[in-house]
Amino acid sequence: MKAIIGGTGIDRDSRFYENAVAHVNRYGEVIYSIKDDIVYLPRHRPGHRLPPHRINYRANIAELRSLGVTDVISIYAVGSITKLIAPTRFGLVQDFIDFAFGRENTFYDGDDESVRHVPMIDAFDRDLSAAFLATAAMEGYPIPANVVYVTTNGPRFETPAEIEAFRRIGGDVVGMTLGTEVALLREAGIRNASVAYSINWAAGLDAEGMAFMEGESIMKMVSLVIDLAEKTLRKI
Ligand code: HPA
Repeated sequence: MKAIIGGTGIDRDSRFYENAVAHVNRYGEVIYSIKDDIVYLPRHRPGHRLPPHRINYRANIAELRSLGVTDVISIYAVGSITKLIAPTRFGLVQDFIDFAFGRENTFYDGDDESVRHVPMIDAFDRDLSAAFLATAAMEGYPIPANVVYVTTNGPRFETPAEIEAFRRIGGDVVGMTLGTEVALLREAGIRNASVAYSINWAAGLDAEGMAFMEGESIMKMVSLVIDLAEKTLRKI
C-alpha cells in the first residue's frame, strides 16, 4: 500500500474526502480515504479543522504503518524564503530544520517502546524522490530537488527578522508541519518523499505585506502535484 499526505489546499480535492473512513488507534482518531491501493490522508482533517500544532501526527503515521503503507509522498504548502521555489512553484525537499516545540513528535517516548535515536541524514528517500522528479520532468515540470524546509510551530506566521534568520541558516521555504511528520515517518520506517508548493513570499519579502495565492490557483497546483504523486506511486 502507498499513501499521499496532503495539507493546505487539498480540502476540496475529492480524493481526500470521498468515502472517508474514521479509525481510532492507540494515539487517537484518523480520517482518510483509500482508492486503488492508495491511502489519501488529509493531515488537517477534511475541511482544514486542525491547526498545525494540534494535528495528531502520531495517530496519522501509526495508522499508515498499521495499514501496511511502505511509501508516502507528503505534500506541504509553504512560504518562499529564497527564489529556489517562488510562489506558484513546487519542488522536492532535501533537508529540514525543525523549530517546532511542545508536540508529541516521537514513537520512542520511553514507555513501552524502547529508547531509540533515529538518524535523520536520510530523512527523504532518494529513489522515491528521484521517481517523483522523473515523473514531473516527463510531464513538463523541471523542478528543483534540493529545497531546505524550516518548520515553525505556528499557528502565527513569522516575523521579518525570523525569516531573515532562517534565510541566513540555509532555509529556502517555511511551513509548520514537515519536521514533525517526516521524523515520525522515518521512525516508522516508511519511505517518504516530500513536495513543497509555495503559496506566498514569507514575511518581510513582499512589499504588499503577506499576499497569498488565491484559493482557486492553489487548488489547481495542488491537484497537479497530487496527480504527479499518484503517477509516481503507481510506477514504483
Ligand atoms: N509561513 C509558515 N507557514 C506557511 C507559510 C508561511 O509564510 N505559507 C504557507 N505555510
